[in-house]
Amino acid sequence: MKCKICKEDAIIYLPSHNLALCEQHFFDFCKRRVQKAIKRYNLLDEGEKILVALSGGKDSLTLAYLLKELGYKIEGYYIDLGIEEYSERSKEKVLNFADRYGIKVHIEQVKELFWGYSIPQIAYITRRPACSVCGHIKRYLMNRFGYENGFSALATGHNLDDEVGVLFGNIINWKMGYLGRQSPLLPSTNRKLLKKVKPLVLCGEREIAAFALTYGIDYIEMECPHVKGSTYLYNKGLINRLEEKSPGSKLRFYQGFLENKHLFKEEDVDLKECEVCGYPTTSRICTFCNIRRKIKERIKGQT
Ligand code: AMP
Ligand code: FES
Ligand code: ZN
Ligand code: ZN
Repeated sequence: MKCKICKEDAIIYLPSHNLALCEQHFFDFCKRRVQKAIKRYNLLDEGEKILVALSGGKDSLTLAYLLKELGYKIEGYYIDLGIEEYSERSKEKVLNFADRYGIKVHIEQVKELFWGYSIPQIAYITRRPACSVCGHIKRYLMNRFGYENGFSALATGHNLDDEVGVLFGNIINWKMGYLGRQSPLLPSTNRKLLKKVKPLVLCGEREIAAFALTYGIDYIEMECPHVKGSTYLYNKGLINRLEEKSPGSKLRFYQGFLENKHLFKEEDVDLKECEVCGYPTTSRICTFCNIRRKIKERIKGQT
């Protein structure tokens, strides 16, 4: 197969775009996809100070690489969740990556903030699924760190496949509120809430994996042992079968949704300040502080 642009040997064929590309043109293609998402959805301004949430996986590392390549001012942020081998190995990948590409990276440790308890232990004590507790804590910490350190945007590595999987689940269950909120851009609605952006939403998982492999981005392949519910993974499998039969379905589904987003009204939320930490929340005390309170009670009960 030959590259459609320069006729050199192609390294990848992209059925969704009916496009074969050589190494150089595949690089340009990925860069342009990110640029296109940033422009089309108005994600970032030039000169903004961006905090990139790095998990050590292919998506977030590729995102940091491409944002830097596009000239954005970025710093990385990694949360050590204390999930034994998974966290140790992912931290190593993040540190090696940051070192290699000269990206400053900040690290926070769940165990330090929760009196020695890790995510699985916190999940056990609070009797909540690990992924749910983990998601809350991660979102809270990313936002707090970014806000307290003068960043104006938080970028995460969510890709097209992630967004399509979530969209499909939300439509199957007609979660109108979630549909109204699902977007590559969550503007800052409060001075203590950072703008959240997902610049990889037009890039498929397969393209990102190929990019990381081709350009030597060393990422963790191991999945978190507490991976999200099987329905989400099952849906992703279904969507991949559809994509195989009809290439481009994922992109059409997702872009069509964004074009028709006005059909799904965003729910108005009444934000108050958490009585403990002062960060915006819909209840009196935010979920993060509630989790911390439960852990404190447990420690008191033991002494
Ligand atoms: P996930 O929710 O695990 O699918 O991850 C979605 C995005 O959240 C990733 O692409 C990263 O940008 C970010 N992320 C996930 N885990 C971490 C972590 N431990 N530290 C920092 N960012 C993370
Ligand atoms: Fe949070 Fe798996 S990454 S529980
Ligand atoms: Zn070429
Ligand atoms: Zn709070």
